[in-house]
Amino acid sequence: MVEAHATPATPFFPLTGLHKYIAIFLVVLSWILVHKWSRLRKQKGPRSWPVVGATMEQLRNYHRMHDWLVEYLSKHRTVTVDMPFTSYTYIADPVNVEHVLKTNFTNYPKGDVYRSYMDVLLGDGIFNADGELWRKQRKTASFEFASKNLRDFSAIVGFGVEIGTLSPDLPENSFAQAFDAANIIVTLRFIDPLWRLKRFFHVGSEALLEQSIKLVDEFTYSVIRRRKAEIVEARASGKQEKLGEAGEESGGLGDDKSLRDVVLNFVIAGRDTTATTLSWFTYMAMTHPDVGEKLRRELCAFEAERAREEGVALVPVAGAGDDDDVAFAARVAQFASLLSYDSLGKLVYLHACVTETLRLYPAVPQDPKGILEDDVLPDGTKVRAGGMVTYVPYSMGRMEYNWGPDAASFRPERWINDDGAFRNASPFKFTAFQAGPRICLGKDSAYLQMKMALAILCRFYRFQLLEGHPVQYRMMTILSMAHGLKVRVSRAV
Ligand code: HEM
Ligand SMILES: *[C@@H]1O[C@H](CO)[C@@H](O)[C@H](O)[C@H]1NC(C)=O
Repeated sequence: MVEAHATPATPFFPLTGLHKYIAIFLVVLSWILVHKWSRLRKQKGPRSWPVVGATMEQLRNYHRMHDWLVEYLSKHRTVTVDMPFTSYTYIADPVNVEHVLKTNFTNYPKGDVYRSYMDVLLGDGIFNADGELWRKQRKTASFEFASKNLRDFSAIVGFGVEIGTLSPDLPENSFAQAFDAANIIVTLRFIDPLWRLKRFFHVGSEALLEQSIKLVDEFTYSVIRRRKAEIVEARASGKQEKLGEAGEESGGLGDDKSLRDVVLNFVIAGRDTTATTLSWFTYMAMTHPDVGEKLRRELCAFEAERAREEGVALVPVAGAGDDDDVAFAARVAQFASLLSYDSLGKLVYLHACVTETLRLYPAVPQDPKGILEDDVLPDGTKVRAGGMVTYVPYSMGRMEYNWGPDAASFRPERWINDDGAFRNASPFKFTAFQAGPRICLGKDSAYLQMKMALAILCRFYRFQLLEGHPVQYRMMTILSMAHGLKVRVSRAV
């Protein structure tokens, strides 16, 4: 009898056990959820929901994301945004930025996530590399940008005035368009949890990305092949020529893919950043007429002084009238010939205006880093391995805790000391060029090029914003203008 009772009970025993485990599991799960929930609610940043995190709010604000971050970062210096499979920590306090970009540099590489998003565009180029691969490229490239080379460059080129590239009937450039499209779409991947699915099925944004990359690659490879052919020809005729870093490193001409990556990384590094900065500069100068006027006075005084130093008489243009193109062009060319690496150094107000533009409109508005191991930022924020921490130059430039109560105003004077010399700021506070071991390699070169172009433009032309033209940024790795900048240009002699 005892056995009879016991027997049917036995098969149920494991099931009861399973129920027990399920119950325990549910209790633990809800405890975790409640715990995480309350942690999320305490967290500084946008409202976060289970599973989807802050995706909804982030998507809704995507077109104005930089300003959305300004709002949060002005309340809290560090903001955490939960995403479905990861979390993004945004930092704007120079102390945290120094920790990430310098003190604990090795813990914050570009990382696998960034790499997987950007690979299709940047490949193994310097922007997308970590560790040895990065170190090697950095070393090679830093020779190219040594200030001695810049000085030589500025002495040789002579700054031919080719303002024709600003002509209104400039042909649409399909390479540039495809390149921009690709940049926009890879940027979208950071907040689009479905991108891998889209790529798998070749649909939507990912299908367009594929097309754009194809166009970009075709163009780039054709340029590389053409250059290689020229070099082979030059070698045959005994002349030595070089073709970029990858080519030299392998002792030969380098394989096409590495060269393609180098070229595209430098197109982003050099072309997009300076171009967009020139647009924001022009916009700022137009909307702050007192700044534009002060700048013109500096440039006119500079012109007179340099002409005196060189012992040349300036080509007369005053009173020549708007249609005296020959005299005007001669004067512009003369002014250009007075610019050099060293003489540009005297244009302190121009330098301040460029820097002030970059403070408010940094060409790289936010810059994410991977997290190798769990760490605690100096302000106590915990960051977890596999997530991302992003320093936000756009927000940092607008924070009163970084720049004082007039942080939001465009005021180049803040960069000038009482004695008239340029006043530098810590690169961990003014982060437009990044800081630490990976600080922008082209900073001096960028200032040189931009100041050269702007000195000529601001000395000889006045710009007026076309009425009703909307000036907005668009979301991509670079802070470019969504609708370009439409201006009315007139001569100012
Ligand atoms: C207004 C102009 C420019 C700005 C605001 C700027 C800003 C930056 C920033 C923020 C980075 C770090 C990006 C990252 O985390 O990967 C960077 C890196 C870099 N920049 Fe610039 N840049 C400018 C112009 C240039 C120019 C003209 C060149 C040269 C053609 C250049 C070459 C580079 C290179 C090679 C790197 C990679 C450095 C490394 O990863 O070690 N940049 N730049
Ligand atoms: C840097 O990060 C590591 C984690 O990778 C951490 O253990 C260490 O304490 C950090 N170092 C500094 C100087 O904060």
